[in-house]
Amino acid sequence: MGLEYEKGPVMNWQTLLKLWNGRRQRSHGAEPDRVASSQVADGGVADIGNGMADLYETMSTLRAVRRLRPDPIPDEVLERILQAACWAPTGGNQQPWQVVVVTDPEIKLALKNIYAPEWEKYAQKFLHNISGLEGEAYEKWLRVADSGNYLAENLEKSPAILVFCANPAAMAITDAKLDRVSMVGGGSVYPAVQNLMLACVAEGLGCTLTTLHCLREPEVKDVLGVPEGWATVALIPIGYPVGKGHGPITRKPPSAMASRNRFGNAWGGE
Ligand SMILES: Cc1cc2nc3c(=O)[nH]c(=O)nc-3n(C[C@H](O)[C@H](O)[C@H](O)COP(=O)(O)O)c2cc1C
Repeated sequence: MGLEYEKGPVMNWQTLLKLWNGRRQRSHGAEPDRVASSQVADGGVADIGNGMADLYETMSTLRAVRRLRPDPIPDEVLERILQAACWAPTGGNQQPWQVVVVTDPEIKLALKNIYAPEWEKYAQKFLHNISGLEGEAYEKWLRVADSGNYLAENLEKSPAILVFCANPAAMAITDAKLDRVSMVGGGSVYPAVQNLMLACVAEGLGCTLTTLHCLREPEVKDVLGVPEGWATVALIPIGYPVGKGHGPITRKPPSAMASRNRFGNAWGGE
């Protein structure tokens, strides 16, 4: 028996957990191993176990945190988030990626000097694009631009900058010959990136997936000594947050993103 999903526009993670818990108890009659305090407080769902509540809460609070304190990150914390990355699936279990953990001030500065001008160009276009908006919508995007500016201006102060690299030669890229941009190769590295970022949330570390450095990839490879044939796929500054860090996110719900049986059919319909 599968999960009994509610039909309706939006299901938050608390609702999903209630359903999951009901399924668990019906199929196993199991007692919970652990209770998430947020669940008890939030909806009286006192019997969620197996870390489900933590997992959903972590996923639903992973937002871009661009204001980072310079305080160093202990090696054991770095080791744990790297381990999380290593657990990610990859095509044929090849793990065709590497991550360079940059803590050296000179190398961080070199990366900042590549990233910041690209951000500036991007931000100019971004500000132009939002200039027609008004009120809260405009303010919201302005805050995003502001945090992006902060990150670009202070990138080298992040205690660690993680640069994920990937080796296409070690991937079976099944869409490589199609008449469109190939996407599949990323599937063997971005799950690792996401695992690492989720682990950052669990560790209280802020992080943001960035890619603007790719516009000047040869220089980045030169700075980091990345071998020929390898690509750089994400540059992730991490550190303890200046403000609250991870928190609520705004995303479209499943009703806007999922279809039933055929593309475009309403997910909530029959
Ligand atoms: C593929 C990808 C590339 C991104 N590149 C950048 C970037 O270069 N610079 C940046 O500040 N944020 C970057 N972001 C972060 C997004 O802007 C951010 O996740 C999005 O605006 C949603 O914001 P939120 O996660 O805070 O809700 C990138 C995110 C993704 C998934």
